[in-house]
Amino acid sequence: MNDSDRKGEVKIRKVPIAQVSLDRREIDAVRRVLESGRLRAGEITEDFEARFAAAVGARYAIAVSSGTAALYLACRAMLQPGDEAIVPDFTFVATAAMVAAIQAKPIFADVDAETFTLDPEEVERRITKRTRALIPVHLYGQPADIASLTRVARRYGLRVIWDAAQAHGAQFHWRDVGSFPDATCYSFYPSKNMTTGEGGMITTSDASLAGELRLLRSHGEVSRYRHIRVGYNFRTTDIASAIGRVQLAKLPAAVRARQRNAAILTRGLAGLPGIELPQIAPGARPSFNLFTIRIETKQAGISRDELAEALRGRDIEAAVHYPLPLHRQPIFRGYGRDRDFPVSTRLAKTVLSLPVHPGLKQTDLRFIVQSVREILKVGGN
Ligand SMILES: Cc1ncc(COP(=O)(O)O)c(C=O)c1O
Repeated sequence: MNDSDRKGEVKIRKVPIAQVSLDRREIDAVRRVLESGRLRAGEITEDFEARFAAAVGARYAIAVSSGTAALYLACRAMLQPGDEAIVPDFTFVATAAMVAAIQAKPIFADVDAETFTLDPEEVERRITKRTRALIPVHLYGQPADIASLTRVARRYGLRVIWDAAQAHGAQFHWRDVGSFPDATCYSFYPSKNMTTGEGGMITTSDASLAGELRLLRSHGEVSRYRHIRVGYNFRTTDIASAIGRVQLAKLPAAVRARQRNAAILTRGLAGLPGIELPQIAPGARPSFNLFTIRIETKQAGISRDELAEALRGRDIEAAVHYPLPLHRQPIFRGYGRDRDFPVSTRLAKTVLSLPVHPGLKQTDLRFIVQSVREILKVGGN
């Protein structure tokens, strides 16, 4: 389907919420690995790690099998069973579930009403004698308030594990989010800003932490068949890393495209009653893995779910990230009540993500804007 098929803004093709962008370069890179017969993590993975570390400005990068594995290993390396770690109440379940998986306790804190990321004041209110770490999330590619959260962590002697699963290429005061201590966890799932199919990465500049993460990644093996930790197999493959190297080279352009698309959507949807657009905090440069708006039913004259349905009726895939705050998840029953997390509770009812990925054409973006305006019954463009 090409642009001319969209003349007169008639809907022609489906507009997906995410789209993998692969071309000959990834295919050739994978073919070379297959032809070499060396599939396990080897030189290509080491090179991918070195390039990733350099790209974010960290000293070390440790490639793993998923973003969940990255969080699990970071939690294992920095927390003990029974410790508490403060996580946002509004995020993908893995952020908190990996704390629970190592027998530590996730403590939920509410998020900021404008950036939807961990609120430093709410964090401070929840610190106890058992608190050992913060796990802020750069949600949708929007950097958390790294400066304030780092200050809180330093004041109370806490470790910080940043969840950047959705934030490859995001910056905070001109520094990549992956360069801040103690460690940053990434996912390479296909909906992310770059992919390896499944995969993940941990970046850190702490040599001893990097060593510990490498040990845990592969059965605590220090030399052949000599094991000094109870560890796992969370390794990746050179097949995945070959894709990752190509995707990493494309990342800056992909992030610029996401930022351009977000700016077009922001201009097109500005000033609509009851529609709140993504806010950009001072010093933050989001990488827009998702473009997530908020709908206030009363002012908009339509609910979030009605708008989502109407968009889907026009083959625009609108999605809800996430319909439940973590304290409402069946696995976290008893971890808090709605009134403890008013922002997160409201977000779960009102957020809606629109397509923003680099695969969108100008006509797709115009069609999204025009559709939202028509559904809300406000004219113009
Ligand atoms: C915020 C967040 N954390 C963690 C993960 C887990 O990553 P993965 O799906 O690669 O295990 C994801 C992605 O799904 C995510 O969005």
